[in-house]
Amino acid sequence: MEALILVGHGSRLPYSKEVVSKIAEKIRERNIYPIVEIGMMEFNEPTITQAVKRAIEKGAKRIIVVPVFLAHGNHTKRDIPKILGIYNGEEEEESHHHHEHHHHHHREEPLEIPEDVEIIYREPIGPDDRLVDIIIDRALGN
Ligand code: NI
Repeated sequence: MEALILVGHGSRLPYSKEVVSKIAEKIRERNIYPIVEIGMMEFNEPTITQAVKRAIEKGAKRIIVVPVFLAHGNHTKRDIPKILGIYNGEEEEESHHHHEHHHHHHREEPLEIPEDVEIIYREPIGPDDRLVDIIIDRALGN
């Protein structure tokens, strides 16, 4: 069974999780993925670890993780892969201190992915043409 996990940044305010939850709900309504979960990088639950565990408990064997981030950054290149256990160690050091102000990373037990479960980590949103209409709408005050 296939699962989709949307990873959002998270915030001390509720809006980040609310937006990711609403997007997840819209994706569920399309009935493409039997399991759709959200996992928040920081501040909120479910955490990414909790989302993956939940998907596995529901029977997922192929877990597709999409970072709901506009662009790559330390979270998408380093932190999320680390949590997923697929970090290759390349972009260590770069701006380690930048992120220390966060110091809220959930201290969780490392994920243990069963051997028959595949994790597929996808790209963030990027400069997709479909965003242009949204941004113009917002510029217009819509
Ligand atoms: Ni952050």
